[in-house]
Amino acid sequence: MKKSHQDSSSLWNYSPAPESKSHISLKEKYGLYINGKWEKPISGKYFDSINPATEEILAQIAQANDKDVDKAVRAARFAYDSVWSKLSGSERAKYIYRIARLMQERARELAVIETLDGGKPIRESRDIDVPLACNHFFYYAGWADKLEYAFPTRKVESLGVAGQIIPWNFPLLMAAWKIAPALAAGNTVVLKPAETTSLTALKLAEIIHDAGLPPGVVNIVTGFGDTGAAIVNHPDVNKIAFTGSTAVGKLIQKAIATTSKKATLELGGKSANIIFEDAPIDQAVEGIVNGIFFNQGHVCCAGSRLFVQESIAEKVIKKLKQRIETLYVGDPLDKNTDIGAINSKEQLQTIEKYIQIGLNEGAEIYQPQCTLPKKGFFYPPTLFSNVAQSNRIVQEEIFGPVLTIQTFRTIDEVIQKANNTPYGLA
Ligand code: NAI
Ligand code: MG
Repeated sequence: MKKSHQDSSSLWNYSPAPESKSHISLKEKYGLYINGKWEKPISGKYFDSINPATEEILAQIAQANDKDVDKAVRAARFAYDSVWSKLSGSERAKYIYRIARLMQERARELAVIETLDGGKPIRESRDIDVPLACNHFFYYAGWADKLEYAFPTRKVESLGVAGQIIPWNFPLLMAAWKIAPALAAGNTVVLKPAETTSLTALKLAEIIHDAGLPPGVVNIVTGFGDTGAAIVNHPDVNKIAFTGSTAVGKLIQKAIATTSKKATLELGGKSANIIFEDAPIDQAVEGIVNGIFFNQGHVCCAGSRLFVQESIAEKVIKKLKQRIETLYVGDPLDKNTDIGAINSKEQLQTIEKYIQIGLNEGAEIYQPQCTLPKKGFFYPPTLFSNVAQSNRIVQEEIFGPVLTIQTFRTIDEVIQKANNTPYGLA
């Protein structure tokens, strides 16, 4: 989308600079990656993965049921017992290193598919998500042969089969965060991507296959919440690693409470940025913008609450408003775009619900004058001022490009306010 510059008397636009998608390859239909093979789902069911910027269908994704999950867990167990737990750290490292190298070689394709499937700006998937995901595999390749030296008084052991469930905000990066350390430590994996963003995890399965990883060491099963629950409830899974909503995190905690399964839960957030009167204001404004508008605000450590010292509040808010007038909202494949598409219709509805809650709570809203694309799921950057600590928009995670602004006078006051949230802070 083109956007005119508000401050200048003469209107000007950047020409569109869309990244090419001619070099990517997507299958029409994706099966489940189990035991080193592409398998049809036992249910016979598939669902669509769409591009949230255009609502076009990108591919059909297999819907795994509990029988498919059982197959994947059995494959992971067999691979653990027969191969992976027996390899030395330095042998495991070679495979992990090879995955990193192949990801690097296919970085451009991964970035474009990440943007098409999830709506994030190409600048972010190209410069942040994909390079960090590659680096993560490199980093853990380095750990695999050093674990036994890292904790001198303790014996380091793998757990077995890791069941991993990830969300849609950083699809490939989350897969890297989960898979790379599990493999380095000698575990095998059954991973389920989020239902709106399965494609880069399936591309990663292709890469893992090309890397020659022994069959069953990594299995990728796609589907909805019930597929995730089948992983959580499978008796032969030793560890659950989950990132997503607090509500589902609680369900998982309950489900495994009476078992010996270990868990890592990475849930939501409502973190605070605090600006004191002696801060360099232009830099602070850039920090605020990155904190809440990066990845459309779909970030668990987003700076979704802003606290500004009262003496500079007017100045900061004025500069912040000017700055968000210059943000480009639109085609995620365009290299000029700052804010891409909201990941799904459901998430857009959640954001809209919270906007209404904020208005009902009496908050003052500010949005720049930008025209949103007619198709797809988009939301403009939004500021809420005149909010109270008790307001729901201040207390609850919105997970969109929406910032609440409060003021303070003293350091003690702002620390108390910033900490007054049920979430842990980033
Ligand atoms: P969600 O928690 O439902 O989904 C995350 C993953 O868990 C997906 O792969 C999903 O299929 C799976 N899942 C859903 N129900 C499950 C169950 N009963 N057992 C096992 N796995 C299950 O998150 P959703 O609905 O996509 O987003 C809702 C809110 O959660 C967002 O608005 C945001 O506030 C928060 N969220 C936080 C994230 C973070 O990075 N911490 C990431 C995504 C969402
Ligand atoms: Mg999608």
